[in-house]
Amino acid sequence: MVAELADLDESDLDTWAATGELSEEVAEHMIENVVGTMSLPIGLATNFIIDGSHFLIPYVIEESSVVAAASNMAKRCIGTGGFRTNCDASIMIAQVQILGVSDIAAAIEAVYANKAELIEECNSLDSTIVKLGGGCKDIVCRSLDSDSGPMVVVHLLVDCLDAMGANALNTMAELIAPSLGRITGGKVNLRIMSNLATHRMARVEAKWTPDSMADSRGGNGEGIIQGIIEAYNFACADPYRAATHNKGVMNAISAVAVACGQDWRAVEAGCHSWVAYDQGKYGSMTRWNVDEEGNLVGTMECPMAVGIVGGASKVHPVAKTNLKLLGVNSAQELAGVLACAGLAQNLGALRALSTSGIQSGHMKLHAENMAISAGAEGEEVGQVAEIMRQSNSPITQSAVAEALAKLRLQ
Ligand code: MEV
Repeated sequence: MVAELADLDESDLDTWAATGELSEEVAEHMIENVVGTMSLPIGLATNFIIDGSHFLIPYVIEESSVVAAASNMAKRCIGTGGFRTNCDASIMIAQVQILGVSDIAAAIEAVYANKAELIEECNSLDSTIVKLGGGCKDIVCRSLDSDSGPMVVVHLLVDCLDAMGANALNTMAELIAPSLGRITGGKVNLRIMSNLATHRMARVEAKWTPDSMADSRGGNGEGIIQGIIEAYNFACADPYRAATHNKGVMNAISAVAVACGQDWRAVEAGCHSWVAYDQGKYGSMTRWNVDEEGNLVGTMECPMAVGIVGGASKVHPVAKTNLKLLGVNSAQELAGVLACAGLAQNLGALRALSTSGIQSGHMKLHAENMAISAGAEGEEVGQVAEIMRQSNSPITQSAVAEALAKLRLQ
């Protein structure tokens, strides 16, 4: 069924089915001192209509209920057309730090006077990105005061096209550093990309009507929307809450990034640092408000440094299959999908937290994990989980162990 929907072939399905999927050889080439590999489940989030097209979104995550919550929220906005995205071109920043400059203004002026030659030198790099029309497009200088004295920081603005681009950026920064040292008369120290990718933003917007937010237990949509807005305002006002609120957003973004072979730490660093940079304090990654018709409108704007060529996305067999399933044709499209998943995930958490709380739903889905922890095997796992779901008492590890013991006495 999934294979037909996503145009996958037998070998893709075999790749998913091979749970120890990474060959020793590929693993050895990825990192050092390899002793083995470790698998996590891939779950597919459903119901996502993004810019008019239907997407099945792969999540790699250990936490139950995340995939179900995102699918549920995505379903509830199908009636208003789903998610709309708008993502920037893939411009990334590489930074060169220059210290010991006697006249900062003159040094910056000298860099700008030599800009065309410096860009040309950056693009002399033997790189596929440059060959395909990307590469360094601009140079911007900043001056900073620090405990190590004043410094000039040169930003290389590099179009990475469909690549995440880290290697090209870092190589370009190292390539250009001697020229920058000579031109400014300063000492070059760091030459490295920035994960605060403010020129590579992904934006998403979606709308939920009060009816679509109502629940089957009789909770009315307006009241639920009000609870969601109150929960959102809590995150805006309190970094302690914002950290958890944003963790919920990243439950999706990181899970999809891992599934698609991305550097998820880079994406996480970008999203978290953007919040503080943009708002002057740590707050919510998402924004929620109610429009004139009483609909809940959610938006998010975050840096999204992801690629569909190069890196693990082209080496890891499962990441390749997951990207194929997703069917994105550009890095921007992938960035948009991650943002949509993040927004839906946040809504799922806010809606659950401000109504019944997350534990009832979460623990019901988590019951199988707990049954395995309690020692259940084979059919027992489903049977114990079902006993716990049917019971009205809290699903705790000791209650699960007791249910298993009783089951074994029958
Ligand atoms: C749990 O993984 C994520 C939540 O804590 C997010 C939130 O509190 O908004 C439920």
